[in-house]
Amino acid sequence: MTFRGVPVPAEPGQSVAAALIAAGIPAWRTTRRGGRPRGVFCGIGICFDCLITVDGVPDQRACLVAAADGMRLGDDGAGLDGTATGAGHDAARDREDSDAAHD
Ligand code: FES
Repeated sequence: MTFRGVPVPAEPGQSVAAALIAAGIPAWRTTRRGGRPRGVFCGIGICFDCLITVDGVPDQRACLVAAADGMRLGDDGAGLDGTATGAGHDAARDREDSDAAHD
């Protein structure tokens, strides 16, 4: 797999989130308002903190998507520093951005 063009190894059965963390990438997006880093919070598909673009499909939960050969992760217009430059807008991101409990 690749994350923003950088190779990321994955073991069979790993989630996308687990593979990213194992590769030393604990956060893969930032909040729209505060620019705060986000990666895994709940790890079970509830909080939506781990949203990522997978093979061009935005807002996939990295903790639920199984890693697979050839996946392109995070190719959503975000810069290598994680700053979103063209990310989409949706209710999950709004909810997450307003949730101060994560800070
Ligand atoms: S970490 Fe909570 S939905 Fe993925």
